[in-house]
Amino acid sequence: MSTKSDIRNVSRHVGETVTIGAWINNKRSSGKIQFLQLRDGTGYIQGVVVKSEVSEEIWNDAKSLTQESSLYVTGVVREEPRSQSGYELTVTGIEIIHLTENYPITPKEHGVDFLMDHRHLWLRSNKQRAIMVIRAEIIRAVQEYFDTNGFTIVDPPILTPSSAEGTTNLFHIKYFDEDAYLTQSGQLYMEAAAMALGKVYSFGPTFRAEKSKTRRHLIEFWMIEPEMAFVDHEESLRIQEQFISHVVQSVVKNCRKELESIGRDISKLENIKAPFPRITYDEAITFLQGEGFDIPWGEDFGAPHETAIAEKYDKPVFITHYPAGIKAFYMKPDPNRPEVVLCADMIAPEGYGEIIGGSQRIDDPKLMEERFEEHNLSREAYQWYLDLRTYGSVPHSGFGLGLERTVAWICGLDHVRETIPFPRTLYRLYP
Ligand code: 4AD
Ligand code: MG
Repeated sequence: MSTKSDIRNVSRHVGETVTIGAWINNKRSSGKIQFLQLRDGTGYIQGVVVKSEVSEEIWNDAKSLTQESSLYVTGVVREEPRSQSGYELTVTGIEIIHLTENYPITPKEHGVDFLMDHRHLWLRSNKQRAIMVIRAEIIRAVQEYFDTNGFTIVDPPILTPSSAEGTTNLFHIKYFDEDAYLTQSGQLYMEAAAMALGKVYSFGPTFRAEKSKTRRHLIEFWMIEPEMAFVDHEESLRIQEQFISHVVQSVVKNCRKELESIGRDISKLENIKAPFPRITYDEAITFLQGEGFDIPWGEDFGAPHETAIAEKYDKPVFITHYPAGIKAFYMKPDPNRPEVVLCADMIAPEGYGEIIGGSQRIDDPKLMEERFEEHNLSREAYQWYLDLRTYGSVPHSGFGLGLERTVAWICGLDHVRETIPFPRTLYRLYP
């Protein structure tokens, strides 16, 4: 009799006979022994088939197995310190489910376009699996942080009648006879939710029809958006650094194997603990000009600027107090210097760019009305948002963390396309 087991759990069955549903990752043979590299999604284990110890039928079945063939394999679990997992399976039975022919992704090198065209299969590779496991751990740790710190999860709508982050990169769709847009950010709705529930956060997909083809931009990406009533800019920064430290340290603790398997320098992540350094936009401009960048005060930073600033630090850095003119309409001006706003972008170390954008929000009804005039925003479309300032307005702050950029940074990937199961980029909607 055999017990069904995941590869992840074989350590509980040393000396016992188990059956594992698996795929063939790879195979080697030395004439009298065949080594089956098995994977089942939870881990990897080597199955050893010894010719002198199995029937001819099992031996021949093992021989017929090709890369990505599926099977139920039965065997005795043994400790094997020389193997990567620490365990090995001495095979006693094989039940072939499906023999695969000509699997397109072979162990040789393939180009990125080819791999992206076969993303549905590429996901099975060691590295892509490790990235998806780390992504899942990041999501788990994000929710753990907010769920244990008094936040309530709230889901903003995906279909919206108007825009939150500017009108240039909206996806337009028909909503029966009306016009609608895919959400760019749940923020404005989260502000309404914060007035109802205090501290809230959302986790969901957002869409930007950005014509930028960079290593950091996706058309569809997932955002975590906390919004907090009675929290000012300063307190929001403290929450952000605690939150990011928690997420990174959770991954270090729970995904060490995966991080090692993709070659990530873990010591760099172990160092990510609050507090994080801060510089103002003004200081950043002075620094950049000193480095030879030709950037006047009032202009927004691009990737090269962010990277130059981030290189000075081995932790994420907050850039605060941007000019009001280059930031969103809802950001609260600094009372001491109204030309800048109480905002911060968090820039990841090692050149991974902006991972968080956030600010304190305007709570004064008059000022919000002025901003509406300046930005030509339709009062009709946003009456509900103005209502938040009319009825019991309070100081509040929030921010948005881009999940895919966070995965890229924590995994050490040079492109966001590998951070999401099925990336939507400027030129890719398949598979
Ligand atoms: O800085 P952004 O545009 O901020 C907002 O949308 C605010 N409404 C958030 C808030 O305060 N609730 O976007 C936030 C983060 C960025 O820092 C970045 O990590 C990510 O979202 N992001 C993208 N990630 C991948 N592809 C894109 N095209 C992205 N655009 C933004
Ligand atoms: Mg931003």
